[in-house]
Amino acid sequence: MTLFDVYPLSNITITKAQGSYVWDESGIQYLDMYGGHAVISIGHTNPHWVQRIEEQLHKIAFYSNSIKIPIQQQLAEKLGKVSGKEDYQLFLCNSGAEANENALKLASFENKKKKVVAFSKSFHGRTSLAVAATDNPKIVAPVNETDNVIFLPFNDEGALEKCFAEQGNKISSVIIEAIQGVGGIIEATKGFLQKIRSLCDEYNAVYIADSVQDGYGRSGEFFAHDAAGVDADIYTMAKGMGNGFPIGGILIAPHIQPKHGMLGTTFGGNHLACAAALAVLEVIESEDLIEQAKKTGEYLLYRLSGIEGIENVRGRGLMIGFDVPEELKDLKKNLLYNQRVFTGEAKPNVIRLLPSLAITRKQVDEFIDSLQNEIVSMRKAILTTAELS
Ligand SMILES: Cc1ncc(COP(=O)(O)O)c(C=O)c1O
Repeated sequence: MTLFDVYPLSNITITKAQGSYVWDESGIQYLDMYGGHAVISIGHTNPHWVQRIEEQLHKIAFYSNSIKIPIQQQLAEKLGKVSGKEDYQLFLCNSGAEANENALKLASFENKKKKVVAFSKSFHGRTSLAVAATDNPKIVAPVNETDNVIFLPFNDEGALEKCFAEQGNKISSVIIEAIQGVGGIIEATKGFLQKIRSLCDEYNAVYIADSVQDGYGRSGEFFAHDAAGVDADIYTMAKGMGNGFPIGGILIAPHIQPKHGMLGTTFGGNHLACAAALAVLEVIESEDLIEQAKKTGEYLLYRLSGIEGIENVRGRGLMIGFDVPEELKDLKKNLLYNQRVFTGEAKPNVIRLLPSLAITRKQVDEFIDSLQNEIVSMRKAILTTAELS
């Protein structure tokens, strides 16, 4: 049997990881500025996280949601405390797409309406309604197509107001990333998020804060949406939540009431996933990683702003992007193979940095040196080619 070939792969096999470094099978060390796509929140193989999972594994790894699972309640309490949303309710699932799918569905159960407002360049996952609310027709299969999703331009308050004025009685929810990740590190303005809040209040619609990538402390606040000073009705979470152990969840405002059977999952909230997620929150708390992400992010932004050759450095906390001009289009690949640094990308020309929240200033300096070296050598090569031709 072969693997279903859907991923364009880098020709590297990682066999070991620790903190912000990974090693390939021949022992070569790489600096991880990508965090396995924003997933590594507290650092690879963090000892407390490993110990918690190991201990749980020896007790019980899984039982279905038909029995009491006290570790779910422990996770809910810790999550409430660390996120500051203590009066919210937690529903656990397994991935970001699933979190958004459940959020959109719950909103519709709640207000009995059908339309979803989503925005240009959004990414919300690949399950049926999440992908329909994603602004990329290439990944929407015919069976996912629906006229229930309305796409509006990002950060356009006028368009949002007009849409609500015309169809507010049909709009069930608005789903938005506070910092678009796949879209290329584009921030929603505070005013835009506040406008979403007030229109959702006025028209009885549900504000869904997709915090799958920008949440869990990555932005320097628990939720990137918090910067706008308003509360969403539902926050969706996944990536950083388990530091690589698959787990997702939604935080649900107290005014939304549960009913038995309205949501459900076999694997969501299993003992092992909850142990991993609890370990993540314990480390975030004990190592003050949200504050660290904020400060290290500011430092990284400052260092990047001094680098000649890259453009539009932007972002918040440890969710940072910059544009790469055409002449340096191989920068990401060269960083990986020449400088041994993993970075992320957003099409067509953005490099995305999503390192662990525990990355140190020294590692940031190491990255900046690698970036500078690579840009200098790429430019030299361009000049040499020009001289020869
Ligand atoms: C903002 C956002 N929402 C949802 C998802 C989907 O998450 P998952 O791949 O865990 O289903 C992603 C994944 O990149 C994302 O960035």
